[in-house]
Amino acid sequence: LLAGPADGPLAGRTALVTSGPTHEPIDPVRYIANRSSGRQGHAIAAALARLGAAVRLVSGPVAIPDPPGVETVHVETAREMLAAVEARLPVDLAVFVAAVADWRTESQAPTKLKKRPGAEPEPLRLTLNPDILKTVGTGSRRPRLVVGFAAETADLLANAGVKLAAKGADMIVANDVSAEGGVMGGNANTVHLVTAQGVETWETMAKDAVAEKLAQRLAAMLADKDR
Ligand code: CTP
Ligand code: CA
Repeated sequence: LLAGPADGPLAGRTALVTSGPTHEPIDPVRYIANRSSGRQGHAIAAALARLGAAVRLVSGPVAIPDPPGVETVHVETAREMLAAVEARLPVDLAVFVAAVADWRTESQAPTKLKKRPGAEPEPLRLTLNPDILKTVGTGSRRPRLVVGFAAETADLLANAGVKLAAKGADMIVANDVSAEGGVMGGNANTVHLVTAQGVETWETMAKDAVAEKLAQRLAAMLADKDR
């Protein structure tokens, strides 16, 4: 396992990060997915490694390189992501940044679905994917520090507060992904840290800067738990 600098604030700690979208196949050529570049999650994995943590990154399909100094595994679907995460527990802290597809099709067609001339398309029958953050956050091998992200287009802080409790997280990093927010695929991010203590809003900054600042905050939170 790769380990970061021995003198960093996260030296001796293990961390797990999920990043990117998941792809849920409909047939051999089509899939359901969320918009996600993986930039924020990959930057967080790299930042945790720079602070000394041994970082395991579970990434969905992305077009960006594996972050330096991070043990990275690539998966496609939500169910594969959950299995890869569970195989990498226990860890000291986990950050769930992936934009996991909430639904997959009930079944996957073994051959390409064809248009039927003159006929309506068959509706897709969807089923719920496992909630990876909730499974880990409320599970028996829960990391001591569990952080989720929440992409919202409305009622940002109320929704993030509900997710904090429902998923067993210590913190939800909420960001506005409405058209005005412009986060998707872009380089800047405006985040709100939602914890049981309240909400802290950070100024808009580059995703790398968010990652660096968040990694430092998580190192401090973990040190606090040791006291
Ligand atoms: N998450 C997850 N597995 C899922 C869905 C979400 O691990 N199947 C995680 C995300 O990585 C994120 C957090 O849960 O850290 C919140 O994701 P979000 O999509 O905002 O919340 P949902 O619970 O899926 O609710 P909704 O999409 O309906 O707002
Ligand atoms: Ca979702």
